[in-house]
Amino acid sequence: MKSKSGKRIGIFGFGCVGQGLHDVLQDNPHLEVARICVRDREKLRTLPSHSFTYNPQELLQDESIDLFAELISDPKEALQIVRQALEAGKTIISANKKMISENLTELVALQQEFGGTLLYEAAVCGSIPILRTLEAYYGNEPLQEVSGILNGSSNYILTKLDAEGLSYNEALAQAQALGFAEADPTLDVGGYDALHKISLIAAHAFGAVIKPEQVLRAGIQHIASRDVTLAQALGARIRLVASARLNKSNKLQLQVLPTLVFPSSELYYVEAEFNGVQLQARYAGDQFLKGRGAGSHPTGSAVWADVSAALAGYKYNYPKFKYNDEEQLKPVVLEEDDELKIYLRTTMPELLPELPWLELTSFGVDARAGQLVGTIRRKDLLLHLPALKQTIAFIAQLPVHVTAEQVINASGLVLEEAA
Ligand SMILES: NC(=O)c1ccc[n+]([C@@H]2O[C@H](COP(=O)([O-])OP(=O)(O)OC[C@H]3O[C@@H](n4cnc5c(N)ncnc54)[C@H](OP(=O)(O)O)[C@@H]3O)[C@@H](O)[C@H]2O)c1
Repeated sequence: MKSKSGKRIGIFGFGCVGQGLHDVLQDNPHLEVARICVRDREKLRTLPSHSFTYNPQELLQDESIDLFAELISDPKEALQIVRQALEAGKTIISANKKMISENLTELVALQQEFGGTLLYEAAVCGSIPILRTLEAYYGNEPLQEVSGILNGSSNYILTKLDAEGLSYNEALAQAQALGFAEADPTLDVGGYDALHKISLIAAHAFGAVIKPEQVLRAGIQHIASRDVTLAQALGARIRLVASARLNKSNKLQLQVLPTLVFPSSELYYVEAEFNGVQLQARYAGDQFLKGRGAGSHPTGSAVWADVSAALAGYKYNYPKFKYNDEEQLKPVVLEEDDELKIYLRTTMPELLPELPWLELTSFGVDARAGQLVGTIRRKDLLLHLPALKQTIAFIAQLPVHVTAEQVINASGLVLEEAA
């Protein structure tokens, strides 16, 4: 049966987001759900069995379907589905940040070649309309910075550590029990999820298609209450901040790092599972968007917004992309020589590698708890980060105005050694 508007949607996935979209569509009678493709034949469903198919081709080859929503948890299969839809010149909405960020060049080329449309607002910060804002509103205006808290699971954990004094493992267990974190939380707490999102933001805000290994990334897995209380003593909170920033030499600085944020920053007030994104535009100045970055209905709402926009003919223009004469995307120059001020704590100080620190102050209560404040070039930190991570180090960025002496005072320790 056709809906009033005569449009039909095929949905892939009926998990958290797929069910959220289905719920949202109940309030919107102008679109009929054709069928839903899932994987597990044994799973109990809230809809009758004739609503489902287990064969993606039954949706992809159904000419009565006007557009698709790809909301599955398998990035490889998701790529096959999106590819096939775009090669057929169809419209598809996806929430899969990993798949899209890792294959963006190909997915843009497929749209250009076959005339199809791919929208993916839900993939970045759930209900926050950041991509549409960057595309449609800031398509022409130069941006200086887009940064924020892009991962709700890690923000929930950091908030619990800070506000309730929970241990990392207690906070993670709570986040998992409430469905804010996966059974395997690596993508979230390791900063990979935020990396996928900042990559997509960088494409729309700065025209930069980047490889994940070019981005400085550290997660929150090794945070301890000692780091949290130190930040508190400095008047700050630790947040996992992803940022893309153009510096004075017009080079892009990209990173996902635990960062000390102070009350002067909007990010200080982003709590629990919420996300927040701040924009700095050349003429408009500063703006800040905050909202639910994940969850069934908030994410379903973002997919619905894309579905509505796509039905009205909306496409991303990638207005900041620049092409050379051979119509190949010009690479954006990334900054590697800038200096970062870093706080580091490791339980294996004896294994810390020799790094080309520009400034270094190390301290700590005993051999099991080495702490340091140091300044290092981005390229050196990128190069040595894997070795540092092997020492189970917790690493956070400090604003330049915070001095090593302030950190040591905040830690309640006596300076042991300075270099
Ligand atoms: N959860 C969020 O808040 C959120 C927010 C933003 C973006 N996303 C993204 O949205 C996507 C879906 O996430 P989710 O949280 O909804 O996942 P989920 O709850 O684990 O559900 C995944 C769904 O995908 C189906 N599926 C998995 N592999 C499949 C395959 N090969 N063929 C057909 N169906 C398959 C599963 O089928 P069965 O039901 O048969 O198992 C299930 O219905 C992911 O890309 C995720 O990164 C999620």
